Amino acid sequence: MPSTNSGLESDSSSKRFLATWLIGGLVAGISITAALHTGWPELSPFNNNRKKKRPVRVYMDGCFDMMHYGHCNALRQARGVGDQLIVGVVSDAEITANKGPPVTPLHERMLMVSAVKWVDEVIPDAPYAITEEFMRKLFDEYNIDYIIHGDDPCIMPDGTDAYALAKKAGRYKQIKRTEGVSSTDIVGRMLLCVRERTTSESPSHASLQRQFSSGHSKKYDDGGPRSGTRVSHFLPTSRRIVQFSNEKAAEPNSRIVYIDGAFDLFHAGHVEILRLARGLGDFLLVGIHTDQTVSANRGAHRPIMNLHERSLSVLACRYVDEVIIGAPWEVSKDMITTFNISLVVHGTVAEDDDFEKDYKNELTTPAR
Ligand SMILES: *[C@@H]1O[C@H](CO)[C@@H](O)[C@H](O)[C@H]1NC(C)=O
Repeated sequence: MPSTNSGLESDSSSKRFLATWLIGGLVAGISITAALHTGWPELSPFNNNRKKKRPVRVYMDGCFDMMHYGHCNALRQARGVGDQLIVGVVSDAEITANKGPPVTPLHERMLMVSAVKWVDEVIPDAPYAITEEFMRKLFDEYNIDYIIHGDDPCIMPDGTDAYALAKKAGRYKQIKRTEGVSSTDIVGRMLLCVRERTTSESPSHASLQRQFSSGHSKKYDDGGPRSGTRVSHFLPTSRRIVQFSNEKAAEPNSRIVYIDGAFDLFHAGHVEILRLARGLGDFLLVGIHTDQTVSANRGAHRPIMNLHERSLSVLACRYVDEVIIGAPWEVSKDMITTFNISLVVHGTVAEDDDFEKDYKNELTTPAR
C-alpha cells in the first residue's frame, strides 16, 4: 500500500473526470490518449519540462498507537513544512521490540493515519529508528526532501538519537510539540473511569498502564507529563479550531449530509462511518454531542475526551467538512432548515464496542 490517500477525493475526482471525458468524447471526439495526456496532471508532478516546481515532500514517522488529536496536530504542522506529507507508520514488531506491544495493530494505525486530512501518503512497516538504508530509500524512492520530528528528544534504548543520520545529512526539520495531550493521559483517564466503577484491577489494565507510563519519550506516543494516572487539562483555543477547520463552506447546490454522535476516543469504526456518510452527499456536517448529553445517555464516566477534544479529532478527518461543536441529541426542524440538511445519517446508537459490525445496518436514511 504505497499510497492510501485515494479514498473519497480521488473517487469523486475520477467520477468527475469520467463525466468530463464522456462529454468531451461525445462533443469534440477527443481520443482516449489525448484525454489521458491532459486529464491527469497529478501523475507527473516531477515533470521538469513544465514551469511548475516539484513539490517539497516531507516525511514524518511514528507509532500512532491510540491515535488522538495531538498526533493530528503534529501531522498538520509537518505538512506545513512542505507541500506533501508522507507518513511512516512503525511496524508492530518494531514497536514491540522498543516499548512493548501496541494497543492498535498496524492495519488500524494505517487506517487512522490515512484518514487525517494533512496526510498525502502512508508507508507501512517503517523502522523505529531511521537507518542509513531506509533513509536512502526515503530520498531516492520516495523523493523525500526533509525528515520531520518534534522538538522532544528521541533517544533509543542504546542512547543514540533516532534522527542522528537525518540531521547529519542536513535533511532534518523540527516542529514544536504543543498539544497538552498524550496517550499516557488518555490511558490515565480510562483507568480512572474503570477504577471508579470496579475495585479489582484486571491484568490488561495493568499492562496498558505499564506500557504508557514507563518508557522513553519518542515517536509521538507518549511524552506527556509522566506522573502516573493523571488527567490532563486541554485548553482549547479558537486558533487551534481554525487551524483544524476547512475553509470551504458548502457549495450552493450541494447535498448536505448530517451525522451526529459522541465520537469519543475516535477510532477506525468512526472513520469508516464518516467515509460512508460523506459518500452519500457532497458535504458532511458532523454534530458532536455535548459532554452533558453524552454523560446523560452513556453514563457518568463518559465521555473520556471532552467536547473540544472530540471536535478536533473529527475535524482532522478528511471525510468531514464541518462540525457542530455541541449538537443537540435530537435533530430539530430548525437545524435542517438552518444548515440545509438533505440527509440525516443515523449512526448514534451504534457507537460502542460492537459498533464496527453493526454500523452497516445503522446507516439508514430516515426522512426527518
Ligand atoms: C439546499 O440543498 C439542496 C440540495 O439538497 C440544494 O439544491 C439547494 O440549492 C440548497 N439551498 C441552498 C440555499 O443552498
